[in-house]
Amino acid sequence: MKKIGIMTTGGDCSGLNTAIQRIMRGAHLRKWRVFGILDGTDGLCTTPPNVVELTDENMPIENARLSGSFLHNGRADAENFATAARKGSLKAFNKKLYNAISELKLDAVILIGGNGSISLAWAHRDIYRDVQLICIPKTIDMDIPLTDHTIGFNTAVEQLTRFCDQLMLTARSHHRWFVVQTMGRDCGALALNAGVAVGASAILIPEIKFNVDNLVKHIKNAPTDYGVIMVSEGITLRGHSGRPADMISRKLTAAGISNRTAFPEHTQRAGDTTAFDRILATTMADTALNAIENNETYVMVVENCGKCKTVSLADFVAAGECVADPNIPDVKTSNAYVDLDDPLLDTAHDMGIYIGEIK
Ligand code: F6P
Repeated sequence: MKKIGIMTTGGDCSGLNTAIQRIMRGAHLRKWRVFGILDGTDGLCTTPPNVVELTDENMPIENARLSGSFLHNGRADAENFATAARKGSLKAFNKKLYNAISELKLDAVILIGGNGSISLAWAHRDIYRDVQLICIPKTIDMDIPLTDHTIGFNTAVEQLTRFCDQLMLTARSHHRWFVVQTMGRDCGALALNAGVAVGASAILIPEIKFNVDNLVKHIKNAPTDYGVIMVSEGITLRGHSGRPADMISRKLTAAGISNRTAFPEHTQRAGDTTAFDRILATTMADTALNAIENNETYVMVVENCGKCKTVSLADFVAAGECVADPNIPDVKTSNAYVDLDDPLLDTAHDMGIYIGEIK
């Protein structure tokens, strides 16, 4: 009988509980035991390790649709790779994680994480040398290479779309614009997708340069005197600082365009998981369990055109644009961005949405 551990690391998002519940269900069908490692790597740093065996009682199927993670994602002030690197105690930290996994006598660890956590797991892969390590990609940012979708992205697009739908009505009542700042870090996928769904008048993303004068012209010539201007949190405006939505809002105000800012913040990581994300989480959970059965290790589950498979973590790191982790300089995070050939950019442009100076 195998014993597997699951942990959720990095920022939470919708779909984590679906993945956890489906992994448990599939594992139990194989007569394996499943342990939830609480608070990500924090749960491996306590003595004894902080784990809970998952059962249909504590991980009931009706909870699988809920956002957040029932295993928690960790505390900001806990010891982690970054704090250990700062203190020069990375070796000891890694040993602690390795020892905890050995003590739990796990055969496999399924790490559900973002590009930061998965890149870290690869950089410190020795921790997992005696178990099978299977990663599942989740993030609302959609910045993970090699996969068409990540768990949580679809729900985030839905949440953001609903948020903007509400603003559109008050915008119309007051003949004003809403500058909505989205999450997404340096990747504009969330802003682009929700922007098209909402029918935003402009979408500014980090991947595409924009010109404020042209934005102003575009808004002044728009067929309506209200609407949504979607601004990804990763954009910059030379000579300006502060929140991107505030910077754009000030420029619009200076040009005589009535506007307000709006910040959906962490509501983008919340909300009942969409059917799309639940299906993705279920398929990825199934693929992860099959990978354990096939004795795979150091792999990540990816989805391409609706089909899931595994790729090696070495390929995942090689495929992305590698950016130094600001907290641990010798670790590189593998990043993906909006592809400038993404047909959604053409669609947005054809629909009269200002997307910057690309076309
Ligand atoms: O990576 C997910 C994400 O939600 C980003 O889009 C955002 O910039 C960041 O996490 C917010 O992190 P925190 O929850 O620490 O504020």
